Amino acid sequence: MQIQNILQRYGDDLKIVEEYLEKNYSSYIQIIPEVTDYIINSGGKRFRPLLLMISSDLCGYAGERRYSMAAVTEFLHTASLLHDDIIDHADTRRGQTAANNVWGNSVSVLVGDFLYSQAFKLMIEDGDPSLQKVLTSAAITMVEGETAQLTKCNDINITEEEYNSFIERKTAVLVSAACATGAVLAKAPQTTVDLLTNFGIKLGIAFQVTDDTLDYVATKEEFGKAIGMDFKEGKVTLPLIWTLKKCSPDEKGIVEKTLESKNISNNNIKEITSLINKYEGVDYALNKAGEYIKEAKLFLESFEDSAPKDALLAISDYIVERKL
Ligand code: IPE
Ligand code: IPE
Ligand code: MG
Ligand code: MG
Repeated sequence: MQIQNILQRYGDDLKIVEEYLEKNYSSYIQIIPEVTDYIINSGGKRFRPLLLMISSDLCGYAGERRYSMAAVTEFLHTASLLHDDIIDHADTRRGQTAANNVWGNSVSVLVGDFLYSQAFKLMIEDGDPSLQKVLTSAAITMVEGETAQLTKCNDINITEEEYNSFIERKTAVLVSAACATGAVLAKAPQTTVDLLTNFGIKLGIAFQVTDDTLDYVATKEEFGKAIGMDFKEGKVTLPLIWTLKKCSPDEKGIVEKTLESKNISNNNIKEITSLINKYEGVDYALNKAGEYIKEAKLFLESFEDSAPKDALLAISDYIVERKL
């Protein structure tokens, strides 16, 4: 199955998710819907809602509740992006000026809080404690991941294991929760919920590893975010972790000094990128992402062949090939 076929199959569902998003961020404080509109309608991939639609389809659930739960995943994601862009001093998000850069940090914090709260309200209205558990745990774990990552900022000795534990928390748990939600909505047996949970964790890790490679090699136009930002923010990600393991002590010293400098220039980023290229750090990371995808797919093996299963397999392949 191709990505276009997936969008054809789930396009109508995703349109309904848009309606659910739209009707759940109104407020009499005008700036709240204004900022929300700005970020929500700026071309996000809707990856988490799409996974939720496909996993519901896979497990045989086609009811209304999947739309509001998809809105929950997208609100949690969007709130985390608003906050993440403040933390990361991002200039650009989804191809446009990041909200913190238009309205300032305070507004971004508060609109992020508003969206988290809307997500919790939707979960309470839905009323299913097992879903609330999956999705609120994901929300908590994401914050733990982002916070843990801060503790290793500018640290050239971060290990691949530490990096994995950060990205599993900050990114993969929500991807996983979106996958598990379809099974929970379908009242599937716990073993099925577990398979989709585990599938989503591996998929989510591969998704973040790929994002971290794109931060070095994508074009800003395609990626919609500025390039080289992770290094500028002191985030040592897999392509660089690998490079630091392979390079000479002198080269390691250069990386350390550059990381510590107050103003990291685009030339500095070019230098670091060529070092990463020299040691094939991006190839290493993409290879790893490919391995995680293989592991992810194993969790789908016991499902009978079907269109939604094909869709999940195709999305898995797309994750490592994507340019945005
Ligand atoms: C960006 O997520 C943040 C990461 C977890 C890497 P997406 O790549 O899903 O962002 P949008 O929603 O498509 O903009
Ligand atoms: C993912 O990390 C952010 C969240 C999970 C909130 P990044 O900092 O790499 O995401 P981008 O690159 O800004 O989208
Ligand atoms: Mg960021
Ligand atoms: Mg990134």
